[in-house]
Amino acid sequence: MIDAASKAFFHFLARNESLKHLASKYGMASDTSFARRFIAGETVDEAIAVARAIEGRGLSQTLDYLGESVATLEEADAATADYGRILDAIVASGVGRNISLKLTQLGLDVSTDAALGNLRRILEPAKAGGFFVRIDMENSPYTDQTLEIFEHLWNEGFTNLGVVLQSALFRTAKDLPRVVGRGARIRLVKGAYKEDAEIAYQRKADVDEEYLMQMEYLLTHGNFPALATHDAAIIDAAKAFVTRQGIAKDRFEFQMLYGVRRDLQASLTREGYGVRVYVPFGRQWFPYFMRRLGERPANVGFVLKSLVSER
Ligand code: FDA
Repeated sequence: MIDAASKAFFHFLARNESLKHLASKYGMASDTSFARRFIAGETVDEAIAVARAIEGRGLSQTLDYLGESVATLEEADAATADYGRILDAIVASGVGRNISLKLTQLGLDVSTDAALGNLRRILEPAKAGGFFVRIDMENSPYTDQTLEIFEHLWNEGFTNLGVVLQSALFRTAKDLPRVVGRGARIRLVKGAYKEDAEIAYQRKADVDEEYLMQMEYLLTHGNFPALATHDAAIIDAAKAFVTRQGIAKDRFEFQMLYGVRRDLQASLTREGYGVRVYVPFGRQWFPYFMRRLGERPANVGFVLKSLVSER
């Protein structure tokens, strides 16, 4: 995690339309284009090929069809219909049935009811097909609605649904026992968004301290928690904690992003831990890509290098 100012700078760039246009033109143009380090491809077939390769190395995966902040119900409806085809393609391919999605892709900015209805339209075939569906957590204006939609659908019987909590937010201390109490599966992350000091920790050390406490709580009280981090110190602490407490390796999993710390993904797998790789794909990759640069400005160097080498 980097300091708040750099995070804010990349969030500002993510909203720049000219930059988005330029990046979208060159970022995925060839097999070596810069965005391919973090994005599996623009089509579901490319994503499935990546998922298959990941599974071939003994890891599991969750596929994320990229898209967020849609401004009309028509776009939300189209994204929901796309999910139907994606579920079919995953079933036909035989790769693991696990997807991650964002509620603003399903219309949350336009109508909470529409987003809920769209998610239900995805969950019905997903449940019948044995899929696990994770709602990603977006920035803090959406936290309440996301948890409400999650709880509503959970109470309807969609227990194949999980959610994400962010250690950076002060409120997570209260949200965590609330969601754990339902028996739902939680993915714990530090938080990818720039948040104000009134509601969120700004220093890496403070976020890490919260993460460690929440991780221990999840490992002892949670239902198959996902520890989503590339932070080697936190991962070592998790390994030491489960060993001390006698928690079996199949009671939780680590999760990491496609293209980040592949070395650590492989070494954890060799040690017998479950590792799930989050595999994003689709044409709307720019905001996701910019968040990855914002987490680690050194990544900008590799983008520039690949731009120069492609000329
Ligand atoms: P931290 O940022 O402290 O980084 C620790 C180390 O990891 C770095 O020193 C570096 O080695 C490596 N690293 C981290 N990010 C990197 C990058 N982009 N490129 C290269 N190396 C990097 N957030 C959110 O708000 N809502 C969500 O739903 C999700 N979902 C999600 C799913 C999964 C599977 C993961 C792994 C992460 C998320 N996140 C997320 C993102 C998360 O909140 C956080 O921003 C990133 O994971 C980076 O934080 P770390 O925990 O890795 O630690």
